[in-house]
Amino acid sequence: MAFGHLLMIFKAVLIFNTASMCNAENTVSVQTGSSIQLDIQANVPPHFRSLVWMNEKLKNIVTFINKKTVIFRDNVVFNQTTFSLTLKNMQKTDSGLYIAKIYGSTNEDAAVYRVSVIDPVDSPVLNWNITMISVNSCIVNVTCSGQDRTISNSYHSNNCSQEEVTSFEMQALTMYCKEDIVICNYSNPVSWKNDTIQIKQLCTPYENKSIEENNSSFPLLWLMVIVISASLMILVATGVLYCFCKNHNKGMSVLSQMLYQMKKRQSFILKPVPSE
Ligand SMILES: *[C@@H]1O[C@H](CO)[C@@H](O)[C@H](O)[C@H]1NC(C)=O
Ligand SMILES: *[C@@H]1O[C@H](CO)[C@@H](O)[C@H](O)[C@H]1NC(C)=O
Ligand SMILES: *[C@@H]1O[C@H](CO)[C@@H](O)[C@H](O)[C@H]1NC(C)=O
Ligand SMILES: *[C@@H]1O[C@H](CO)[C@@H](O)[C@H](O)[C@H]1NC(C)=O
Ligand SMILES: *[C@@H]1O[C@H](CO)[C@@H](O)[C@H](O)[C@H]1NC(C)=O
Ligand SMILES: *[C@@H]1O[C@H](CO)[C@@H](O)[C@H](O)[C@H]1NC(C)=O
Ligand SMILES: *[C@@H]1O[C@H](CO)[C@@H](O)[C@H](O)[C@H]1NC(C)=O
Repeated sequence: MAFGHLLMIFKAVLIFNTASMCNAENTVSVQTGSSIQLDIQANVPPHFRSLVWMNEKLKNIVTFINKKTVIFRDNVVFNQTTFSLTLKNMQKTDSGLYIAKIYGSTNEDAAVYRVSVIDPVDSPVLNWNITMISVNSCIVNVTCSGQDRTISNSYHSNNCSQEEVTSFEMQALTMYCKEDIVICNYSNPVSWKNDTIQIKQLCTPYENKSIEENNSSFPLLWLMVIVISASLMILVATGVLYCFCKNHNKGMSVLSQMLYQMKKRQSFILKPVPSE
């Protein structure tokens, strides 16, 4: 008991210390390849000798001394009015502390940022199993996976609950159901992506599907008939044209003879197929 109290006090002191140490530190996240603007957080005194933006290794990024700017790094823009620093095309290796210091009659930290450069999340994936419970209702077991994490839940097709399952870290994986649609959302501080399924569509009985398949095979049959008769017509037309050119026609023109032949063939070919 006493030990537990001691531990709590120790923890509280620890938290207080870190909190006061990080008082002015801002944590910001930026997507790989994007830009970020870091602003000055303190009131800048009207007269100062120099302002320096540096990284955690105290390596200079920008110096502004006697109103002259020197930039020591690529992809950096410094605003001489606001003294903000813009970092472009951020890469993971650019993660870390960024500090602005003002030197004058007093020296002070004008800004402290902890910048994390992170990749956008990959697309999550929904998988499901269906248990039919009556003709038009079912239970769908769904898993929602993002990278190495998976969460699962069951949804009733008549009763798509708003229940949400979430797992947290830097990344969050969330699954919820809204108006018959299950949404799996995978996010991190710079991006999010989703996968969705429609529950009622999954629950449609299989009989319905087979009827649709039968229906869809009808146009296919007709398409085949049309293609075959068309190729036959072309064949016949070529033959007719060849004969007429050879024999030199009397009276009937080549074209009208061709058309006549085509009509004859067409009616002949289409005859055996039952029409509906
Ligand atoms: C500096 O910032 C001010 C205020 O946001 C803006 O009006 C100005 O255009 C910026 N200057 C440069 C060079 O970007
Ligand atoms: C569906 O069932 C298969 C085999 O029974 C199992 O491997 C899979 O994890 C299940 N998926 C879900 C989302 O329940
Ligand atoms: C769905 O999950 C429940 C429990 O969560 C389990 O009893 C049932 O067998 C699962 N159904 C399928 C098809 O995986
Ligand atoms: C709705 O879902 C709850 C469980 O989440 C279940 O107990 C209830 O029977 C469902 N209601 C209907 C009408 O399906
Ligand atoms: C996914 O999660 C992110 C972060 O929580 C949120 O901003 C976004 O709106 C969510 N998207 C959907 C479709 O739920
Ligand atoms: C993700 O959510 C958006 C907006 O809600 C939607 O337009 C999009 O189709 C969803 N993505 C997937 C893969 O379902
Ligand atoms: C087939 O699906 C339709 C909607 O696509 C639905 O209205 C109908 O009830 C279904 N038929 C059967 C037998 O379930």
